[in-house]
Amino acid sequence: MNIVASLLIGYLVGCFQSAYIISRFKGHIDIRKYGSGNAGTTNVIRVMGWKAGILTFFMDLLKAAFGVYLGNLIFGDMLYGYYTGVGVVIGHNYPVFLGFKGGKGIAATLGLLLAVDWRIGLIAVGLMAVIIFISRYVSLGSVIMAISIPILMAVFYTDQWQYILLGAILMASALYTHRANIKRLLRGEENKLGHKKNLTE
Ligand code: G3P
Repeated sequence: MNIVASLLIGYLVGCFQSAYIISRFKGHIDIRKYGSGNAGTTNVIRVMGWKAGILTFFMDLLKAAFGVYLGNLIFGDMLYGYYTGVGVVIGHNYPVFLGFKGGKGIAATLGLLLAVDWRIGLIAVGLMAVIIFISRYVSLGSVIMAISIPILMAVFYTDQWQYILLGAILMASALYTHRANIKRLLRGEENKLGHKKNLTE
């Protein structure tokens, strides 16, 4: 019961779609109709510039961290905070109020990880930053960071199978939302950070 309630509370928090709200109010556009069509940081940077993109990133990150703290506060156990965070990522990716078309959940996942366990969060942020810095592919950094989550959970929470399972779910979700990016990466056609070409999914 607590699991379902955590996921539902998280889902509602996740539906607060920063990229959509910022693009609507700041740029008077629907970000989902521009660039890659994704309602997330990378696409906001691409279409609206760095300032709006960084704002989107921190709002999504804080949204997920808030979800985790809320779940932890209500149910008195970080495991339910973690479930709430997973709900936030699902709500962010598939917001009911926006026809289930949202983002890819990476900034929200980082916020979740930082709130569940700052050590894991910092490793994930660092890993992703290094890969993006070297390759200039945000999607590659996102995918590798996502793959690291269940591994990091298994290292830090060896005997807590739910932590590892939720990590695997977060990984699977990110691989699924990045399926078009992965195909483009394999074809050598992915958009590098700052480039504005080949933007259809
Ligand atoms: O987290 C999203 C990023 O990895 C890719 O975004 O807009 O290039 O599909 P985008």
